[in-house]
Parts: sequence; structure tokens; C-alpha cells
Amino acid sequence: MREQPLVVVANRLPVDETISETGTREWRRSPGGLVTALRPVLGGAGTTWVGWAGGTGPAPELPAIDGVTMRAVPLSDLEFEQYYEGFANATLWPLYHDAVEQPVFHRRWWEAYQTVNRRFAAAAAQAAPPGAIVWIQDYHLQLVPALLRELRPDLRIGFFMHIPFPPPELFKQLPRRAELLRGLLGADLVGFQNSGGVHNLLRLAERVLGLRVRHQEIESGDRVVRVGAFPISIDVAALEGIAMSPQVELRAEQIRADLGNPQRIMLGVDRLDYTKGIEHRLKAYRELLADGRVKVPDTVLVQVAVPSRERVGHYRLLRDKVEREVGGMNGEYGRLGVPAVHYLNRSFDQEELAALYRAADVMVVTPLRDGMNLVAKEYVAARVDHGGTLVLSEFAGAASELRQAYLVNPHDLDGMKDTLVRALDADPLDAARRMRAMRRNLRTHDVHAWARAYLAALQN
Ligand code: ADP
Ligand code: F6P
Repeated sequence: MREQPLVVVANRLPVDETISETGTREWRRSPGGLVTALRPVLGGAGTTWVGWAGGTGPAPELPAIDGVTMRAVPLSDLEFEQYYEGFANATLWPLYHDAVEQPVFHRRWWEAYQTVNRRFAAAAAQAAPPGAIVWIQDYHLQLVPALLRELRPDLRIGFFMHIPFPPPELFKQLPRRAELLRGLLGADLVGFQNSGGVHNLLRLAERVLGLRVRHQEIESGDRVVRVGAFPISIDVAALEGIAMSPQVELRAEQIRADLGNPQRIMLGVDRLDYTKGIEHRLKAYRELLADGRVKVPDTVLVQVAVPSRERVGHYRLLRDKVEREVGGMNGEYGRLGVPAVHYLNRSFDQEELAALYRAADVMVVTPLRDGMNLVAKEYVAARVDHGGTLVLSEFAGAASELRQAYLVNPHDLDGMKDTLVRALDADPLDAARRMRAMRRNLRTHDVHAWARAYLAALQN
């Protein structure tokens, strides 16, 4: 058990604002994502989470949630636009995901990114007791490690990047690349999802900053910065518990019945993000329908796509394209009462997601680039019955662990079509063998193991 106090610094606080029946404002722990990932390490000696509560204007006062003190960092309207939507999600996000969409560079966005990073660093410095561990999360806050070290040299500072970290050929497009790297190197330990990110940072430190690199260490002035791969995971036992509950099992049967008891259900669950390869997946399915290799109503696709970052141009365009494509496919291949694609544009609770996973014969996860992809791991964890097959992009971090999935290159349309058909027609014994092997791996590499490994390395 951790003895030092811990401060987590992340763009978002793990809370959602709700309005109670009596009309009062309440804050609840938000489900999923980073909160779930970090929950195992949040206990122990006093923990504080520094982050943005959503919305703009003055920061709200928040109650402690599950014993964790919440410190809200405010954002103005303009900062939300320039720091979050702009630099974080229209410059860094596409650049770090292989530039699958064109990154946009604006000097005023960089100014806002610096201002907001300074504010997060100041809030963390204020929240951290002497000698505390501070764990900074993700691409929104890459300047915070160095800014915080300047303010508080007594702290143990860790940084973890949840998204891919690009090779020098791409990273060097950033006009302020040296400043960003120096920001990251303020940490004692920089963690990535896989060895690719580690290798890219080491090369960048050498080439852009001219620093000496040995094994997985970078000499930065009189300090040594360690770099390592720590693939994130999910709370496997918790999801298994939900997935095997009688209610979820019943709900899965009901979902199948609601869909008309098709022979085979394919499922996609993604944020509506251009990195997720939703268009590629739809195109493959459309061609399979056109070729007559799959037929409605024997086979249906359920695509859950939660709206995300809706004011950012690339996201708006994606939503239009996906919805046009779904409409076109349903017009052409759907039957009365049986659409070819069931398209759901909203959030679900964990029970409903688990029931969807259990109802799906083939889970289709086809990102063009993804740091990890927790949905793929959730599907495997939810298949307590060893049923179902997983079609997984080679470009998802999860592919290096879930080796028994049906791996695809989403850019190779013919290859993806063939693999989808193989997964749909899989021999049940072979499918169960693959699922068993993936579940074994996942159980020993769950989120608890991830958090323990990272924090142990940071404290070392
Ligand atoms: P990203 O972090 O890029 O969104 P991940 O696949 O790593 O992608 O994580 C997505 C998380 O969001 C998963 O935990 C998943 O269960 C959750 N999620 C995805 N779609 C929904 C939805 N419609 N309702 C609720 N949670 C969702
Ligand atoms: O995977 C990166 C990430 O920023 C997650 O931390 C987050 O849960 C998800 O993308 C959604 O992003 P946003 O916070 O922009 O809604």
C-alpha cells in the first residue's frame, strides 16, 4: 500500500454534474475511462485529484468523492476553445494519431495551452503535501511536469501518456517541439502504452534536444529521466462480475430478441472519433452486403457511437459522413423493421454495455491508430462464456496483448472483409480457444497490475 500522499493531475475531474430530483446541483463519480483505471491507486494516504470539472467560468467547489479530494481548475470560454478544442484536440490529437487527419497549428492555441498548463501546475503545487507523488495524465498537460518541478522540486513527478506518442518524423512538425519535450522531461518517469512511444521519446530527446540517452534513460541536466512502457488495462474482475450477473445475461437475450434474433450480430462501440476507423468498418460491411457475402436479416451490425468533441471541425464532418453512410446502407440493404445498421448515438451504463458485449457474436474494433483501446479489452473481459470473436486493428495498442484476436489492417478493405467473414464463420471451438487465451492474458494484466507497476517504477 502506498504511503506517500498522491496527487493525480488530469484534464478532466472524474465527476459528472447532475441535477437531483429536488433541483439541486450534485456531483457524481463519472463512469469509465481514466477514473476506472486509476481507482485502484486512489485509496491509501490522502489523495487529491486536480482537473477541470467541465463547463466554463469560475471553478466549482466540489465535495470529496470516494475519499478523494477534488480540486477544480477553471477554464474560460476562450481557453476551452483554444486549449481543449484547439491545441489538445485539433493539433496534438491528430498529429499523435499518425496525422490521420491534418493537424491544425495556430500560435494563439499554443499560448492558451501554456497558460492552462501553468494553471494546472500551480493548482498541483498547491494541493501537494511535501514529498508527495504527483501523477500527471495525458497529452493535454505535457508542460506540467517541468512547470511543477520548478515550483516544487521536492515532489516525485510521474507522467503517463494515454494516447500514441509519434515518431520524430511527425512530432517535429510541431512548431514548439523543443518546449513540449522539455515539459515532459520535467518528470522522473515518463510512461507510454507501448515500446513505440518509449523509443520515439528517446530518439526525440537525442535529436531535438541533443541529450544523452542510455537504455531507457535520458540525461537532462543533473537529472535522469526514466522512460517505460506500461500498457493500461481495465478492472477485469469488476466487469466479469457485471457480465455474469443474471440481469445482464437476460438483457443480452432481450437485445438479441429486439434485433429479431439474427444469426449473427456484429458490434462496434466507439467515441465518434476519426481515429476509430468507423467509416472503414462501415465501408467493409457495405461491400459485404453488396457482394452478397452477408445478408440482412441473418446478419446485423449494431454501431454505438457516442458524440465527442462536437464543435471541432473534423468531428463534425465525421458525424455527417457516418450518418450519411448509415442512412444510405439502411436505405439500400435494410428491410422493413430490420435495418442493416442499428446506429445508437448515446452513452450507456456499464450493465447495458456488458449486455451488448455478451449479445455480440463479432466485436469489430478497427481504429486507424489507438493508444490502447479499452473497448477491445472490455469485450474480452465480458465474455465470461468464452463466446464471441474479436476483430481488432493491428494499429490499436491492445493488439500486442490480444494476439488471438482476428487482427486486421483497416486500410486493407479486402483483407478486412475477408477477416470479418472468417470471424462471422468461426468454428465455435476455435473461437472459444482464442477467447480463453485472451482472457487468461487479460486477467494477469488488469488495471491493478498496471497502476502497481507504474507507481512502483515511479517510487523506485
Ligand atoms: P477512448 O479513450 O479513445 O474513448 P477507449 O476504447 O480506450 O477509447 O475507451 C472508451 C471507454 O468509453 C470505454 O471504457 C468504453 O466502455 C466507454 N464507452 C464507449 N462507448 C460508450 C457508450 N456509448 N456509453 C458508455 N461508455 C462508453
Ligand atoms: O483516450 C484519451 C482521452 O482523452 C481519454 O482520457 C478520455 O476519456 C477520452 O479521450 C475522451 O476525451 P475527452 O476528455 O476529450 O472527452
